[in-house]
Amino acid sequence: MTIDAQKYDKIARTVFAPVFPLIADQIVAYTGMIQGTCLDIGCGGGYLGAALADKTDLFVRFFDASPDMLEITRRTIAENELTERADTLQGNVTAIPLPDASVDIAVSRGSIFFWDDLPRALTDIHRVLTPDGWAYIGGGFGSKAITESIVSEMKKRNQGSDEFRDRVRRNLGPESCERFETALKTAGLDRASILHDEEIGLWIVIRK
Ligand SMILES: C[S@@+](CC[C@H](N)C(=O)[O-])C[C@H]1O[C@@H](n2cnc3c(N)ncnc32)[C@H](O)[C@@H]1O
Repeated sequence: MTIDAQKYDKIARTVFAPVFPLIADQIVAYTGMIQGTCLDIGCGGGYLGAALADKTDLFVRFFDASPDMLEITRRTIAENELTERADTLQGNVTAIPLPDASVDIAVSRGSIFFWDDLPRALTDIHRVLTPDGWAYIGGGFGSKAITESIVSEMKKRNQGSDEFRDRVRRNLGPESCERFETALKTAGLDRASILHDEEIGLWIVIRK
């Protein structure tokens, strides 16, 4: 499924805006990664990577399948004065156009739900991680309270439709969690775990 970049970005830079600094804090608190190269996979407009760059000394490589999204990312890079500490890369997560062991931390929010071949994507993410590198990949909105307020705002914007709430429940629910567990087993990634609760959402954490 292709996402309309402009339409998604209107929501991402307004309704979702409070989410990115919170998730960046959660990633830094969990991994302790503040230096090296970060790959923001399925970066969209680049707001998670920009929040991480703001809180750390990471160099951020913004990666997405969509040239339209990367166009928006370039604006985010300029707005955040990150031109010296960031670049963009286009491609598919199942064949990341980077050498082995070249990424210290891979992050990704809200993109995994679109990936056709999850085991292959996770295997390729693992390939690009440096020894002792991290991946923090999944979905969430930073906290339960923010999730609820975003769900209610999206209902208003969608003329009373619960479609967004249902998608969030599906993406962050038990079936999604089981799908992630199965994909990790298929990919043979034994140094991986799943974080799943109402506050943070649903995340796969991989250690090389
Ligand atoms: C819902 S948006 C999330 C964007 C951003 N991470 C955020 O949190 O706002 C999903 C993004 O994943 C990208 N994407 C989907 N499938 C992909 C794939 N197989 N490889 C790389 N990027 C992909 C889409 O182009 C889109 O930008």
